[in-house]
Amino acid sequence: MDTKEKYQRYVITNCTKGIEPVVVDSARGAVLTDVNGKSYLDCFAGISVVNSGHCNEEVNAAAKAQIDKLVHANVYSYYLQPAADLAEKLAQILPAPLEKSFFCNSGAEAIEGALRVMKKSTGRTETVSLMASFHGRTYGTLSITGQAGRKRGGAPYAPGSAFAPMPYCYRCLFRMSYPECGLACAEALEDTFRFQTADDVAAFITEPVMGEGGILVPPEGYFRTAVEIARSHGALWLADEVQSGFGRTGKMFAFEHAGVVPDVVTMAKGIANGYPLAAFTTRPEVSACFQAGDHLSTFGGNPVSCAASLANIAFMQREDLPGQSARKGVFTVELLKSLQKKHKSIGDVRGRGLMIGIELISDDSRTPAPATTDKVKAYCREHGVLLGSGGVYGNVIRFQPPLVISEAQIEQAVQTIDNALSLMG
Ligand SMILES: Cc1ncc(COP(=O)(O)O)c(C=O)c1O
Repeated sequence: MDTKEKYQRYVITNCTKGIEPVVVDSARGAVLTDVNGKSYLDCFAGISVVNSGHCNEEVNAAAKAQIDKLVHANVYSYYLQPAADLAEKLAQILPAPLEKSFFCNSGAEAIEGALRVMKKSTGRTETVSLMASFHGRTYGTLSITGQAGRKRGGAPYAPGSAFAPMPYCYRCLFRMSYPECGLACAEALEDTFRFQTADDVAAFITEPVMGEGGILVPPEGYFRTAVEIARSHGALWLADEVQSGFGRTGKMFAFEHAGVVPDVVTMAKGIANGYPLAAFTTRPEVSACFQAGDHLSTFGGNPVSCAASLANIAFMQREDLPGQSARKGVFTVELLKSLQKKHKSIGDVRGRGLMIGIELISDDSRTPAPATTDKVKAYCREHGVLLGSGGVYGNVIRFQPPLVISEAQIEQAVQTIDNALSLMG
């Protein structure tokens, strides 16, 4: 049996759009190679994970050195140096007073832990998150996820989970435009607290740029208004940086664009460039409520992943990957905006840094075009470019390559998208 046949027989695969017909053999930088030797320009980075490039030599060298020293001992039973060093590093790259970290394995697990500490420290029980949000696939994280497509089949979800309007300017729920709207979506949070909760909210949870929801970038001022409202009701703000963190949006963390410091930050994906690791970081007064036995994760803070993460962050800082992401993002958006003039099917191009969405439509009424999106993705794959897709209507192409991608490679990707759209008419 070959790999595809073994998958069909033995692996549960239920990715939203189905598995791509590529049997991956190896990858380096922004290029991925299949078992037949065909190369692909990877513009999705393993769902926004390998920000420092596939098989980054410095990250792998650090992991290899750690493997020969210690692979596991449990970070919550003993003192482990890589976890201590990484917690210190996270406190350095996050603004004060965010300095106490909890380590675990996945984004969803980080959010579960963060919700628990927020509930315990506030003594409150409820949550408010956003429509169109995505926070993971566990019961708790699906409860605060605002997308039926992701929640189907798992109901009923946790009571006490309310949802506020998302900042989706291209399809504004209030049929308004920024800035004349006066940030109606942020102001509406007051109504969510007032009419959908018992005013016992522990956590206001948002992605600083919404990834799975279709690369939704909140308008300037959104977070200042929204977080002020949430805090006036006694809630803490959790910035879910699982997808937007580690240079992806042109800053180390996407909340840095917002001008407000969160109470809790969750991280995963890009934290260790592909080694399994996640964390949440908060203020000491918030974490103080956790007492012995309150929370634990067997593999959390694994020494190999922590060593990889430290090398990854050092590489990012030395190479200024956040700055590279910002500059390459502007370059990409300019190229895509000129494509938009040529192709009526491109309704919107938006993003921050190298977290970019191309929303495809089928007419002047902005009818979402998910079938075209799938076809563009398939054409690009056949022609050697791997793209992501998403959005609440499945009509957003997601361009989230390793941040080390070159301008020539970006031009190649955009040219391939251009060719695909030209063919589709
Ligand atoms: C914003 C956000 N939060 C949480 C998650 C869940 O992360 P994981 O798949 O590592 O559990 C994701 C995954 O895509 C995400 O994008």
